Amino acid sequence: MGKPWKTIILAGGTGSRLYPLTHAVNKHLLPIYDKPMIYYPLSIMMLAGMQDFIVISSPGDLPQLERLLGDGKPWGVNFTYRAQEKPGGIAQCFEIAAEDIAGCNVALILGDNIFYGSGLPELISLALDNDGATIFGYEVADPSAFGVVTLDKNGKPVCLEEKPKAPKSKFAVPGLYFYDDQVLEISRNLTPSARGELEITDVNKAYLANGALNVIPLNRGTAWLDGGSHASLYEAGQFIKVVEDRTGLKIACPEEIAYRKGFIGKAAFKALIDDGLDTQYQDYLRRIAKEIG
Ligand code: DAU
Repeated sequence: MGKPWKTIILAGGTGSRLYPLTHAVNKHLLPIYDKPMIYYPLSIMMLAGMQDFIVISSPGDLPQLERLLGDGKPWGVNFTYRAQEKPGGIAQCFEIAAEDIAGCNVALILGDNIFYGSGLPELISLALDNDGATIFGYEVADPSAFGVVTLDKNGKPVCLEEKPKAPKSKFAVPGLYFYDDQVLEISRNLTPSARGELEITDVNKAYLANGALNVIPLNRGTAWLDGGSHASLYEAGQFIKVVEDRTGLKIACPEEIAYRKGFIGKAAFKALIDDGLDTQYQDYLRRIAKEIG
């Protein structure tokens, strides 16, 4: 497709399902074991090669997110911050970022979605070469809490539903989407759903109607988790702890990813390590620096 890619990380919403945890703190700053939640979606997109990010959240929460992530330079990426005045639905993000995404392809990841699995960055990167839109399908036991996609026997999408009571398939649609530069126009033609939101599923339906929707199935070796409820937040933290303890390697460490991907060189990585902090996290980065050399 040739056009540059921008990635929107959506980190607003009310977090009402996590109350009272989210009464004073934005959901995406809550811990998933040893890191803030937003590190996980950010990291998978960095692993897929993305470097230009637009972080969207409520006006009140943006300063804290900005304090955490800064301008991105030390990690070899760029963060732009944009406010969503009121949580009117996921598909609002394109209008909010209209100036930033003009003439660009757009990736969108929901700030509470966590992906982990061997070969996953490469699989996700396949979306970068597709025309139109690309979404993913992930088999879950109960898809009724998600967007759901039904595929025909050739793997082509035939139907999309948002939180159906009686889902037609077991394929949930994770919060990770890739669009061409038509997405802004498409989102501008949406009308709010029964729950009063501009639905991302309606954007995907528009691409489906145009015959321009690709679906990549994520295999069962992939973990797709979210931190949207108390139980899933707790379980996601446990999952990360189990894998990190076993391997001795951190999942979603942006500093390490920036260095391994070549977004920053050795001197910049060393500067991150020697920033005066003496923490377990810094010890890990020191170890990685020694191992990679
Ligand atoms: O997690 C994947 C699912 O995400 C998809 O399968 C569904 O199709 C999609 O609608 C969405 O469903 P949820 O009901 O889980 O979305 P939720 O309202 O929880 O919002 C997801 C993230 O987006 C969350 O991190 C908050 C953020 N958000 C949400 C809305 C509605 C915003 O930043 N602004 C918003 O206006």
